[in-house]
Amino acid sequence: MAEFKHVTVLLHEAVKGLAIDPNGIYVDATLGGGGHSSLIASRLKSGRLYSFDQDQTAIDYNRQHLQNVIAAGRVVLIKDNFRHLKAALANHGVTSISGIVYDLGVSSPQFDDAARGFSYQHDAPLDMRMNQQQQLSAKEVVNEWPYQRLEKILYRYGEERFAPQIARNIERHRQHQFIETTGELAEIVKEAIPAAARRHGGHPAKKSFQAIRIAVNDELGALEESLEQALDLLQVGGRISVITFQSLEDRLVKTIFHEKSSLPNLPQGLPVIPAGMQPHFKLVNKKPVLPTPAELEANHRAHSAKLRVIERIKKN
Ligand SMILES: C[S@@+](CC[C@H](N)C(=O)[O-])C[C@H]1O[C@@H](n2cnc3c(N)ncnc32)[C@H](O)[C@@H]1O
Repeated sequence: MAEFKHVTVLLHEAVKGLAIDPNGIYVDATLGGGGHSSLIASRLKSGRLYSFDQDQTAIDYNRQHLQNVIAAGRVVLIKDNFRHLKAALANHGVTSISGIVYDLGVSSPQFDDAARGFSYQHDAPLDMRMNQQQQLSAKEVVNEWPYQRLEKILYRYGEERFAPQIARNIERHRQHQFIETTGELAEIVKEAIPAAARRHGGHPAKKSFQAIRIAVNDELGALEESLEQALDLLQVGGRISVITFQSLEDRLVKTIFHEKSSLPNLPQGLPVIPAGMQPHFKLVNKKPVLPTPAELEANHRAHSAKLRVIERIKKN
């Protein structure tokens, strides 16, 4: 099996955030190269870890990489989208968990393998599916989605200010010829951005590629659905660690965690807060945990990473 070169971001911080009980039931929602899973498994005695990934490559790699802990019954691999968290765990008889970690986005092998069609740096057929069995791919989004829908995702998921110009240029090109490759798309995006604006920031296609990837994999929808289920499954004292890599994801996690850990609007002048109204969760850190300067220097993927941790303090 080829090496799976992914350097885990905020490895120790995210696992420390879970405050592992060696006999607890844990979930790694984003197995990838197995960095977080290995460390969690090494802390377990009679506990068990369920590790999810929707990418068959990650599952196949970890079947070997984690074979000892799998054979010992400490780790179970689940090939599924984490948006099916509750149902997939219920299939294994699990209805409550001690903790779960999410390390979002794509893994380095997904990005670096040209054939997966995620990157504007390699010319390859447009794809961007994390789950190779999924129907919707970037080819369909780029060639078939109407102008308004394209503009909306470029703006919303890419925070791309030239979204209208880019969507229009995509529409113009595809009238003549099907857009087949990442290289063609990168050129079409670049062409739509005024030359002066191209001189600043990163690659001109970076934001558009991010937007299309988020749409293809419905990344924000899956995260929101999954977090709601994870919060529900969490036992008292249980924790959720989430590592995000872009502002939209981080905003979503921050909003949900704040809502869950805040008091509802109370009538003015209540002398004490009724027990039933107290929040069921607390934020473990008020501010997100960021990578250390040493990690930032060693791993460029760590640059936009933020870790947020929440704990259940009360059952319903
Ligand atoms: C950044 S990598 C995780 C790296 C991992 N923590 C490690 O240490 O190697 C993210 C992984 O999560 C998977 N993933 C992303 N969204 C998912 C989802 N909704 N359901 C299941 N897996 C998902 C991707 O396929 C990818 O393999």
